[in-house]
Amino acid sequence: MKKLQTMPTIAAKAEKPPSRPEPEGAIIHLRDVTRVYKVGVERIHALDGITLELHDNEYVAVMGASGSGKSTLMNVLGCLDRATSGHYALDGQNTTRLSDAALARVRNERIGFVFQSFELLGQHSALKNVEMPLIYSKNGWWTRRKRAKKVLERVGLGDRIKHKPNQLSGGEKQRVAIARALVCEPTILMADEPTGNLDTKTSESIMNLFDQLHREGQTIILVTHEEHVARHARRIIRMRDGKIYDDRPSNQSPADKPATEKDAGGKSS
Ligand SMILES: Nc1ncnc2c1ncn2[C@@H]1O[C@H](COP(=O)(O)OP(=O)(O)OP(=O)(O)O)[C@@H](O)[C@H]1O
Ligand SMILES: [Mg+2]
Repeated sequence: MKKLQTMPTIAAKAEKPPSRPEPEGAIIHLRDVTRVYKVGVERIHALDGITLELHDNEYVAVMGASGSGKSTLMNVLGCLDRATSGHYALDGQNTTRLSDAALARVRNERIGFVFQSFELLGQHSALKNVEMPLIYSKNGWWTRRKRAKKVLERVGLGDRIKHKPNQLSGGEKQRVAIARALVCEPTILMADEPTGNLDTKTSESIMNLFDQLHREGQTIILVTHEEHVARHARRIIRMRDGKIYDDRPSNQSPADKPATEKDAGGKSS
């Protein structure tokens, strides 16, 4: 696991040290995190007191009904958004008070994001898409190209590097997006419904790729609506109304139940 590099001086000065030491070995530590959206006079508690730890090489699926706060949680974890209150440490560093520039740098260096809709640049080849996040690295173009090519080979697309997104299948597009997420060697690979736009067979092959990356040491957290996708992970976190109501190894996890069932409003046993 890469260690977090020293942030720019401004960010380091702006940051207050955490009042309690971070749990040993946790690469993600959330404590009492909330995210409240204001829409007119209404306040939406998208995250309502989340406390969570994630360790190196964990493989976690987040499940829950639509609107339960899964994407909001991923956006906060991925430093795309900030918590309204609470504490979030990544690799032992409190992100809560980082400047926007420092947070963006953490995001670029530490987080690899994969989205349901791939989010590839249509005018560029697979290789160029994967090279894109390396633009901020100090490496020359040849090294960047070599790295991008190597990651595309790792995800099984060595023979598609010159193809543009519209010349690729859905599963191949998602592989390019995964390669792009991996090219900066992120601490965590995050995926929000990575199989949401794929048929069952292609979903399975994408999940097999996540399994392979996990075996190779990658820490992974993904959101899914589908039990069979979640079962690939080793741990399943279930959310409802901005809260985690169940969190346990996937082989002990019950199937997701509607909100009206017995565990509504509290942690299930
Ligand atoms: N930018 C926003 N402004 C206001 N409310 C928002 C915003 N983004 C999300 N919400 C609200 O926050 C809650 C959680 O949304 P979120 O997108 O995290 O749900 P989700 O679990 O990812 O749902 P889905 O499975 O449909 O993707 C919802 O009630 C949603 O309407
Ligand atoms: Mg969502």
